[in-house]
Amino acid sequence: MILSGKAKLAGVVGWPVSHSKSPRLHGFWLEQYKIDGTYVPLAISPDNFATAIRGLQHSGFQGVNVTVPHKESALQIADIVSARAEKIGAANTLVFQEDGSIFADNTDGFGFYENLKQGAPSWQPDAGPAVVLGAGGAARAVIVALAEAGVPDIRLTNRTRARAENLAAELDAPITVVDWDDRDAALEGCNLLTNTTTLGMQGQGLLEIDLFDLPKTALVNDIVYVPLMTNLLEKAHAHGCAVVDGIGMLLHQARPGFEAWFGTDPQVSDELRQFVLAD
Ligand code: ATR
Repeated sequence: MILSGKAKLAGVVGWPVSHSKSPRLHGFWLEQYKIDGTYVPLAISPDNFATAIRGLQHSGFQGVNVTVPHKESALQIADIVSARAEKIGAANTLVFQEDGSIFADNTDGFGFYENLKQGAPSWQPDAGPAVVLGAGGAARAVIVALAEAGVPDIRLTNRTRARAENLAAELDAPITVVDWDDRDAALEGCNLLTNTTTLGMQGQGLLEIDLFDLPKTALVNDIVYVPLMTNLLEKAHAHGCAVVDGIGMLLHQARPGFEAWFGTDPQVSDELRQFVLAD
C-alpha cells in the first residue's frame, strides 16, 4: 500500500481493539477498489475518547468505526444522529463532515438485514412472526431492523425476562415477550428464528432449543460466527430449514462507513468472507 498526500484516513476506535476484524475487512476493500486510503486500529481508553475523536477529526480523518466500550459515548459526541442509531441508543459509525459536524449512525441492524437478504433472497419478512433469542445490545439492533422490514410479530425471549420487557417497552416494535422456558413452543408458525445470545459461541455454553415445532419453511440465523456453523444452525439444517450464518452481519455493517469515508459502496463477496474468516 502506497499512500499519496491526499490519502483518505479512517479507522476503528476500541479499548481494547486488537481483536477487531475491521482493519482486515476495510483493508481488503481498499485493495480491491484501489483506493488511495487507509484504515487503522486505534486503541483509545474511555477517559480519552472525546479528546481522541476531536483529535482525529482535526487530523483530517474522514471518520471512524466505534466498538466496545465506546458505542454510547459515540452517540453523545455526535451533532447529528441517524434515526436508527437514536432508536438503538448506540452508534458504531462516525462520519466527520465537511462543515465540522459529526454524524453518528448505527449500521448493525442494516448489516443483520442485508446478511439475511444476501443469504436467503426469497425470504419474506412480512410472511409471519420472528422469534428473537436474547435481549442485549445486538438484539436491540436486530429488532429495530426487523420492525422496519415489516415483520408483523416479534416473539422475544431472554433468560432474564426483565431485559426483554424493557426492550419491548422502549422500542417501537410489535414485540411479544415469551418466557425463556417457553422458547420451544414459541417456534410454532414462525417465519424466522434468530439467535442474538452468546450461546453457541466458542468457549460459551450450547444453545439448548427443541426445533420440533419450527416450520421447515422458516429461515434460521445466528449472529454468532465463531464457529460459523453453530449448534443451532446445524440442528436447523438437519431439520430442513434454510440457514444464514453470522459472518455476513459483520461484513455488511461495515458498508455504510466505507461508502461515507471512501466513496464506494463495497461488495460483500465470497472471497471477502473467506479472507476475513481466515484471520
Ligand atoms: P450483546 O450486547 O453483544 O448482545 P449482552 O448484552 O451481554 O451482549 O447480551 C448477551 C445475551 O446473551 C443476553 O441476552 C444474555 O441473556 P441475559 O440477558 O439473561 O444475560 C444471553 N446469554 C448469555 N449467556 C446465556 C446463558 N448461559 N443462557 C441464556 N442466555 C444467555
